Amino acid sequence: MKNVLKTSKWTLSSVKNSLMGLILICLAFAFMGSAAHAAEAAPELGSEDKACQKCHDSEDIKPKVTEAGESLSLRISTPELLASMHNETSCTDCHEDADGKDHGKVSVPMKSKRDYRLSFQDACTTCHKKNVADFKDSVHAILVKEGSDKAPTCSDCHNSHTVRSVKLVEPIANVPCANCHKDIFKAYSGDVHGLERVAKGKSAPLCADCHKSHAIQAATLGDGIRDACLNCHKDAAVKHEVWLPNSKLHFQAIECQVCHAPNAQRRVNLRMVDGVGGKQLVEKKGVPQFDRLRKAADGTAQGFDESEMRSFLKAFNLESTGNKAILSGRLELRSGLEAHQLSTKDKALKDCKVCHENGAVPFQSVVLTMAGPDGRALRQGVEKEVLTSVTSLGSLRGFYAIGSTRIKLLDYLLVLVILGVLVVPIAHLSAHRLFKAKRDKLLAERTSSSTK
Ligand code: HEC
Ligand code: HEC
Ligand code: HEC
Ligand code: HEC
Ligand code: HEC
Ligand code: HEC
Ligand code: HEC
Ligand code: HEC
Ligand code: HEC
Repeated sequence: MKNVLKTSKWTLSSVKNSLMGLILICLAFAFMGSAAHAAEAAPELGSEDKACQKCHDSEDIKPKVTEAGESLSLRISTPELLASMHNETSCTDCHEDADGKDHGKVSVPMKSKRDYRLSFQDACTTCHKKNVADFKDSVHAILVKEGSDKAPTCSDCHNSHTVRSVKLVEPIANVPCANCHKDIFKAYSGDVHGLERVAKGKSAPLCADCHKSHAIQAATLGDGIRDACLNCHKDAAVKHEVWLPNSKLHFQAIECQVCHAPNAQRRVNLRMVDGVGGKQLVEKKGVPQFDRLRKAADGTAQGFDESEMRSFLKAFNLESTGNKAILSGRLELRSGLEAHQLSTKDKALKDCKVCHENGAVPFQSVVLTMAGPDGRALRQGVEKEVLTSVTSLGSLRGFYAIGSTRIKLLDYLLVLVILGVLVVPIAHLSAHRLFKAKRDKLLAERTSSSTK
């Protein structure tokens, strides 16, 4: 059909206006008509594939028993294959070794279904280079490489014999992620996005819209998920700024779900970042530095107190060849599951006091985190008093308004700011000025300490 179209274009340009041209054009249209007709007819298997299906779509083909004792059905449905996106792909494109003379006559041992599936890891590369490349550094691919028997490869998420267009994930339970992350899928289905997705369709995110489908990273690594939120909710910063002073800073110091999963438990996550670039530190494979040093430093195994934190950081930086590691605080949820229980905006956390008050609950639980070789979090408990300690003042950046015990003046000013906003605009103004002076001072302190 493509060739016919090309011919008709060529014909058009070269013999335009001539009677001959007209005749040729008529002929071309006649060809196109019949070609289109042929395309409408049901797709068929090529003759080679038909030969395979003589056995593989027959009732006589017996399931294969693996050495692990599992039963593997060898029956491939021709109608399903023809209805799939691979209906123009030949069996031997993926099964190069299946057309040998002995095939089907001699039984070849198979260790396990998983082992067999893993043997197809390179089978998709020729035709789907981009997906394979995206997948390569994902948390799933690293887990597979490390020998996990539960992390997915291509075939766990896509069935080669029945794959439909990925645009058709209807109902949402068909999303491949649901097979393995069952609890998260259940939470998601009842939250604001899951309900919206079912009610109104594709504008609301499914798993891959927040996590990506192939280049999936561990959830707490970096700011990828927040950026995905902001990519759809483009006006979020503007809308929050109306009531939330310096919403940009809040967006850095608080993950969106902290306010939007209203009943969730919150905590402070002290992330280890590069003191110069600010990038999250990822542990090298085979070098269990974090675990070793944190165990050595945590004398009581009750979580770091101030001096344990100090000696841990010192030991860590002594061993490291790169820049100094510092801590970057962020408010997060205690459970990743709760990140999938987002509510409508009227239920979101708006009460400043929840965070800006003496003994504020989210600051009572603290954890230190470094990313492991696969990006997943390695954690160490930390006593909450560390937040107010001198150690963290020296190493914490961009997170000084922690609880109220930390900087009493700031909280006092915050109360004024809030009162000012709500009650007396003039009081607000002066409080804001006062506050700004304090803020600038702090900022200057921080800049000078970070350039030391
Ligand atoms: C796009 C690639 C692709 C094509 C085309 C393809 N297969 Fe497969 N096939 C696979 C993969 C990948 C597996 C391993 C599946 C798994 O792990 O579930 C597989 C597994 C099988 C199995 C073992 C049973 C099973 O379901 O795991 C049989 C039998 C089989 N294929 C036959 C065929 C036949 C016959 C054709 C053509 C009519 C065909 N395949 C076309 C990729 C393909
Ligand atoms: C004569 C019948 C027959 C034909 C034709 C046939 N197969 Fe098979 N096939 C079998 C049998 C029987 C097995 C199980 C063999 C075993 O137990 O090792 C099998 C196994 C397989 C497997 C499972 C993996 C494995 O190695 O055991 C795949 C994949 C497969 N065939 C693909 C194909 C493809 C592709 C074609 C066409 C090129 C084809 N078969 C043609 C009978 C056939
Ligand atoms: C963890 C599950 C998962 C794994 C593993 C996975 N995929 Fe996907 N893939 C998806 C999802 C989900 C989509 C749909 C993406 C979307 O809607 O944005 C998709 C989409 C696709 C598409 C069509 C859209 C596109 O981006 O081109 C292709 C082709 C594809 N995957 C091939 C592969 C190959 C090849 C591999 C192995 C390297 C692989 N997938 C591994 C989940 C997965
Ligand atoms: C010989 C080429 C070839 C091989 C090998 C192949 N595919 Fe495909 N695949 C295609 C073609 C052609 C399509 C049709 C749509 C397209 O162009 O993306 C397709 C479509 C898909 C889709 C649906 C894409 C969409 O847009 O919805 C997925 C998912 C997919 N393939 C996964 C796989 C996986 C997984 C493997 C390896 C086990 C594999 N393919 C191997 C040629 C191939
Ligand atoms: C609206 C965006 C969004 C959608 C949609 C979404 N997630 Fe998440 N997911 C998140 C956020 C945010 C986190 C938590 C990040 C953190 O802990 O810092 C997370 C965390 C996770 C984690 C890690 C959980 C843990 O215990 O640390 C997994 C696994 C996960 N999601 C899988 C899924 C699956 C599967 C789906 C689809 C059913 C899904 N997500 C849908 C945003 C989303
Ligand atoms: C075959 C099973 C399987 C499938 C399918 C699967 N995953 Fe996973 N996934 C795992 C395993 C196993 C882990 C590692 C253990 C864990 O953290 O839950 C993991 C880890 C993750 C993590 C990192 C969790 C962390 O600690 O931060 C995210 C995010 C994630 N998966 C998202 C997805 C998304 C999105 C999909 C669908 C596109 C998906 N997974 C499909 C098995 C699967
Ligand atoms: C300090 C808590 C807090 C944080 C952090 C926060 N939000 Fe909100 N958000 C709220 C509250 C409260 C509302 C409801 C405001 C109102 O009364 O209209 C809201 C409203 C929204 C709305 C609805 C806007 C509208 O009016 O249509 C969206 C979308 C939203 N937030 C997304 C986000 C995203 C994305 C992030 C992270 C980048 C985020 N929020 C961070 C508290 C927060
Ligand atoms: C693929 C686009 C997309 C992504 C990604 C996305 N959302 Fe949404 N979100 C929607 C749509 C569509 C709705 C429902 C319509 C609306 O209220 O805007 C919605 C609704 C909401 C609401 C309810 C708003 C209200 O009016 O009550 C909140 C809160 C929200 N999203 C927060 C988030 C957060 C936080 C993230 C990231 C963790 C996120 N969204 C990621 C598209 C997205
Ligand atoms: C979920 C917890 C949380 C809520 C709710 C919250 N904040 Fe904050 N706020 C923070 C954190 C954490 C910081 C510290 C940011 C930093 O220093 O990096 C902060 C910083 C600030 C700052 C200092 C910003 C600057 O410019 O330096 C002000 C002012 C502020 N908050 C006011 C408010 C007001 C007013 C409200 C209520 C409308 C509010 N906050 C609600 C957690 C919260």
